[in-house]
Amino acid sequence: MSVSPSATSPISLVSSVSSAGSAPTQADLYDFARRTVADTELIHSLPLDPEGRTWVRLHGPGGSEAWLIGWPPGTGTGWHDHADSVGAFLTASGELKENSLAARLPTDGWKTLELTEDVDRVRRLRAGQGRAFGRHHVHEVLNESPDRHAISVHAYYPPLPQIRRYSRSGPVLCLEQVERPEDWQ
Ligand SMILES: [Fe+2]
Repeated sequence: MSVSPSATSPISLVSSVSSAGSAPTQADLYDFARRTVADTELIHSLPLDPEGRTWVRLHGPGGSEAWLIGWPPGTGTGWHDHADSVGAFLTASGELKENSLAARLPTDGWKTLELTEDVDRVRRLRAGQGRAFGRHHVHEVLNESPDRHAISVHAYYPPLPQIRRYSRSGPVLCLEQVERPEDWQ
């Protein structure tokens, strides 16, 4: 099976006002993350560990799932998706790199697929920079700094029902495991 790029629809981060009671949008989640990274007291309250990532759960808007995450130098998530959740994240300090796929993967029924050459995207997100993403977004997030921690804020809606984890070898993406909330809470 091979996968080609999909058209990504631009989202407006300006029109982020949602009516009371409605599900938070990508823009709402991005706005939450943007406001949260500006809370330096909260950002600096996160315990940092040179041996591994640290995290604190936050209260995201509208019942969303939100996290403050600390990334020691050289750590990363590995390739994964967020199932049907939309989300956003911003770097609060340091710099993160996001490798992502500009392609919609089939949701089920495959174990290995070969990506076409033109689906890879790379973003470098410095403090105050971030992105929102839609359903089925596939990415990995890394702190490639040799000597500096990074801290970021993440929000997802609906709260993550599962995460699919993938290995990647060149163009070949392989589904390795499906994690449930009990695996990371
Ligand atoms: Fe992610």
